[in-house]
Amino acid sequence: MSSIKAPRGVRDILPAESWKWAHVFKVSSEVARNFGYREIHLPVFEHTELFSRGVGETTDVVEKEMYTFTDRGGRSITLRPELSASMVRSYLENGMARQQQPVKLWSAGPMFRYERPQKGRYRQFWQLDFEAIGLQNPHVDVEVIDLSLEIFRRLGLRGLEVKINSVGCPVCRPAYRDVIRDFLKPHLGRLCSSCQDRYDRNPLRILDCKNPECKALTEDAPRTLDHLCDECREHFEGVEKGLRLLDVEFSIDKRLVRGLDYYTKTAYEVLSGDLGAQNAVCGGGRYDNLAEAIGGKPTPGVGFAAGVERIVLTMEQQGCDFGPQPAIDVYVASAGDESRTRAFEVLQMLRRAGFSSDMDFQNRSLKAQFKTANNTGADYVCVIGDEELQSKTVTLKDMESGEQQSLTMEETLEFLEKARV
Ligand code: HAM
Repeated sequence: MSSIKAPRGVRDILPAESWKWAHVFKVSSEVARNFGYREIHLPVFEHTELFSRGVGETTDVVEKEMYTFTDRGGRSITLRPELSASMVRSYLENGMARQQQPVKLWSAGPMFRYERPQKGRYRQFWQLDFEAIGLQNPHVDVEVIDLSLEIFRRLGLRGLEVKINSVGCPVCRPAYRDVIRDFLKPHLGRLCSSCQDRYDRNPLRILDCKNPECKALTEDAPRTLDHLCDECREHFEGVEKGLRLLDVEFSIDKRLVRGLDYYTKTAYEVLSGDLGAQNAVCGGGRYDNLAEAIGGKPTPGVGFAAGVERIVLTMEQQGCDFGPQPAIDVYVASAGDESRTRAFEVLQMLRRAGFSSDMDFQNRSLKAQFKTANNTGADYVCVIGDEELQSKTVTLKDMESGEQQSLTMEETLEFLEKARV
């Protein structure tokens, strides 16, 4: 074993698991195409300012969780903790405002947050991220929510809970903040130290504190929904209506305020009971002021990100189908130096004809080669020994039925082509 191990909180996604991930990406990209979202690849690191201004100085992500370093040119660089800020940066930088709105983009890739690792929470984790940038219409919020659920539906996830809320906007939120402060003032001394800190800077976050005492103290806290301005209320009603139109089951959660500062109006999360403490499979919402916060023209947007590790964990927990495991079609087995050389040629012919195939490169016994063929799930074994060499044939064995036949190479390819599903 190497004496150097992977850093805490990161995982190797080994082949035994990576095929399951491939299934999740495949389904996500099919749904993306279905909903008119186009794929974009964005940098893994950005100027630190993008996140401090975009995600917000008072968020846990920016205050405590970013992987920030100074590069050799003396610039402060941060490994992306999330994708929305980069998406909006790219939209602005590449003049996407000139395109048909909203511009619908999606991406998948690793994010980095210095959090305490636990089940479903890592320091490098993967997100599927979908953003619709450039339009305020509540139907776009509904489309985003429905899109996330369509991915989960097609992956076979069950028992998911959809929670929504509105966190208001710069017009109504300051007054709501005062309402929350007034409500909590008599209990300030009993809040946990983080929440006491949040009281002045970001009191809404007190509503989603997991500390039991803070939770109890905010049980009867006023709802954002009762303090929205007309525009935010109308928008929220539009989202509710749209969700009902599409038969999306949801509940309103007044504690749902989300951990990133850019949210305005709609906030939502999808939760799984099969995940333990880190139960959010996906979270998102609207961020109409993010573009301005990073120095761009006012540009509304809405989107979500789903954690790939959490999706796979939930799917495993629920026994969902990941599709067929990748297996090879034909394993080429040989005995003796000369037949090994011929086997190498045969292998190439099979591959060029489009059959996934492999052979042994360790000069192992036929028995060992058959064992490998079995382990790799090969449908057929193509045997080449002295006899086959002389008769210029191969022996093709069907691994399921055990039947074998002697064929020329041409006949073998023809036969396999017919048998191909
Ligand atoms: P977020 O709620 O911070 O939102 O993360 C979205 C999802 O990423 C979570 O629901 C969870 O599934 C996964 N996730 C977050 N942190 C971790 C972690 N440490 N380990 C494993 N999985 C994790 C955002 O990132 C927003 N950018 C989402 C968004 C897009 N809002 C609008 N557009």
